[in-house]
Amino acid sequence: MIELKKIRALNSVANQMVSKGRGLLAADESVNTVGKRFASINLENTEGNRRAFRNMLLAAPGEGRYISGVILFDETIRQNALDGRSFLKVIQDEGILPGIKVDQGLADYGGSSGEKFTKGLDGLDGRLKEYVSRGAKFAKWRSVIAIGPSLPSAGNISQNAKDLAQYALACQENGLVPVVEPEVLMDGEHDQHRCRDASGMILGTMFEELKNMGVAIEGIILKANMVVPGKKSGQTATPEQVAKETLALLDEVLPVNLPGVVFLSGGQTELDATANLNAINQKGPQSWPLTFSFARALQDGATRTWAGKPENLEAAQKVLLHRAKMNSLASQGKYSSELEMDIAASGSASRGQD
Ligand code: G3H
Repeated sequence: MIELKKIRALNSVANQMVSKGRGLLAADESVNTVGKRFASINLENTEGNRRAFRNMLLAAPGEGRYISGVILFDETIRQNALDGRSFLKVIQDEGILPGIKVDQGLADYGGSSGEKFTKGLDGLDGRLKEYVSRGAKFAKWRSVIAIGPSLPSAGNISQNAKDLAQYALACQENGLVPVVEPEVLMDGEHDQHRCRDASGMILGTMFEELKNMGVAIEGIILKANMVVPGKKSGQTATPEQVAKETLALLDEVLPVNLPGVVFLSGGQTELDATANLNAINQKGPQSWPLTFSFARALQDGATRTWAGKPENLEAAQKVLLHRAKMNSLASQGKYSSELEMDIAASGSASRGQD
């Protein structure tokens, strides 16, 4: 069991992470994933270019107005920004909480089924201690759930739920708020109902495991997918349909003492993710703050504008801050697509598929 004093401290950090009008910037892509982002702008995946990329994302003046926390990758928590300050100091100076990805990526589960489990429980306690000593306040672990004709399997749901709970307990014991992320993937031909069913299965099982393991719900943040149809389903859902199904799911499975939910974008376009978040928050007061923890849906336009060129840094940060502001408004149900106009000339946000 986590002692009361620790739970109070974790709860205070969790509340800051979902404070009104702010959300998380996920900037924790692995070296390989950054390589995929760089391929789209024809940039070589070197340590120096990754540092410049993270500098573009993390050193935008005024970012703290919209961003409560940044999820960092191991490399970034050890690097300095281009002005010589550590990236940690850069975000702390903006009043942004530093978080850290602590899982070690995905591995095949059950042979060639297409299902995955997440690596990283070995040696986790030691890594958490080091991140705490560096100043991290929260952590992230991502599990993925695939939907297919006979997926997800009960075994995969169970293992991912147990691993998320074990990770969450280790975080809380070390004084870090665990962001628990069981992502139901958008890849696939499934419809919106199957997304809702699979999301209900993993969330229900995970909250059961969290309880069994003695994790303090007041000291965690849920990172969830929105309930959307699969990318290859040929179906689209309006923001109102996404909001309706997502809220029905959350009402069904979430404990009331959860401090908040942050949504991943999961391959939605920037504009879709913002519009969907806005519709979710327009449905009246909810039991929990519901905000964003986007990677692609915050970064894509800025990355295209930057294109690896120092002379584009300021313009790219302007695009990033605009996107963050739009999502800040969406987290309060105050967004409208007309607000995109002031940045539209730069062609920042993507409307097509990512
Ligand atoms: O773990 C997933 C990321 O933190 C969120 O990324 O918004 O691009 O899905 P995404």
